[in-house]
Amino acid sequence: MLPTEKQYVQWLENTDGNDTFHNARWLSESNHLPPARIVLVDDKTTADEAYRLACEGTSLLWRGDFHNAKQLLQALARRIERTNERSEQRKIKKAANKSAAESNTANANKIPNLFHQQRQIQAQRSRILSRLLLELDANYVSQLRRAPDVSAACTAAFGQLDKTIDESCVLSFRDLQGALGAAQWREKGVPIESLGLSIFPHYGVFAPTRHEYVPLLLDAPLPKIHEVAYDIGTGTGLLAVILAQRGVPQVIATDLNPRALACASENFTRLQLANVQLQQADLYPTDAPLANLIVCNPPWLPAKPSSPLEYAVYDANSAMLRGFLQDAKTHLAKRGEVWLILSDLAEHLQLRTRDELLDWFVDSGLKVKYRLDTTPKHGRSQDDTDPLYAARSAEITSLWCLEPA
Ligand SMILES: C[S@@+](CC[C@H](N)C(=O)[O-])C[C@H]1O[C@@H](n2cnc3c(N)ncnc32)[C@H](O)[C@@H]1O
Repeated sequence: MLPTEKQYVQWLENTDGNDTFHNARWLSESNHLPPARIVLVDDKTTADEAYRLACEGTSLLWRGDFHNAKQLLQALARRIERTNERSEQRKIKKAANKSAAESNTANANKIPNLFHQQRQIQAQRSRILSRLLLELDANYVSQLRRAPDVSAACTAAFGQLDKTIDESCVLSFRDLQGALGAAQWREKGVPIESLGLSIFPHYGVFAPTRHEYVPLLLDAPLPKIHEVAYDIGTGTGLLAVILAQRGVPQVIATDLNPRALACASENFTRLQLANVQLQQADLYPTDAPLANLIVCNPPWLPAKPSSPLEYAVYDANSAMLRGFLQDAKTHLAKRGEVWLILSDLAEHLQLRTRDELLDWFVDSGLKVKYRLDTTPKHGRSQDDTDPLYAARSAEITSLWCLEPA
């Protein structure tokens, strides 16, 4: 989400021989601060020059052809990759393969380092690429040559600008591309083959493009009494949809993220699911009947999210997972069950141990009734050039069926 407090960016621009002071609303989904230094760049700017400036921390406000900016972004990405390959990447991959091959204690602490190094590399890449900026007017219209109509995608992603004060904005091309990509997902939907339907994600909502866990939710036997179920952290609403389709008469879905609630609501309406209620809540719904079944697919890596978009993936100190487990029992009806969907990637990355997870179950007064497992099918798990390949290819996603001890 954009910060509630508006931020602005200023720069000087020479128009008709005069230096004019410009001011625009600053939009950054990654919560980057407004740039302190901006230079104007266009089709004459070389990729090497742009790369040098961006690496030095200068932001580049694009004034050339819209499509050439996309080319420049790709050229910057290639330069970043080349630089990374030359320096860290080779060393990191070597360490990963060595650690995977020799699981001795001397190598054990390299894996979490590897994960953190990877995140740093990605963060640095994102900072550099996000320095290529464009300006849009109060209707999200770009004055750049050959600019497409981005107005609907930006409005859906970032909300309305204040037209009464003719509020123009400056944002990164990367954020714009994110908004355009999300608009396409939202229009076309993500097909969930095992369900025979599509789910339509919104910008800033966890898109279930990897949905190998869906068959687990279809295979797990429903508790004998299944009048009421909760879906905690519903995102697009996918798990609630599965429960409703399996015949649970009342499903209550929660999420903290308002975008997720709007998205889930739209999906429920499309699928004509009248028996799913939504609540904005930190974990559990309030004023709700006890649940016979509580499902949750929490963010799966215990690490600090670096931007609001990462809240669906990273869970600092496993706070959501632990909070979810800790309170589950008090929300369960007699003979109720908890279905926790959890990948063990965090274990392979040595960010959490299996024993820690099992201890949290015990501390929450829960015991394991059964577990269903699945292996990843997505591209990254097969890509042996990925520095985290050793961990990704060993990942197992489980449905842990828990019940009161
Ligand atoms: C990995 S996504 C899963 C989304 C969806 N259930 C699915 O399986 O596709 C995790 C979701 O949990 C939500 N979330 C994170 N912390 C939360 C909290 N404390 N309370 C409610 N929802 C939370 C995120 O906004 C996100 O939508």
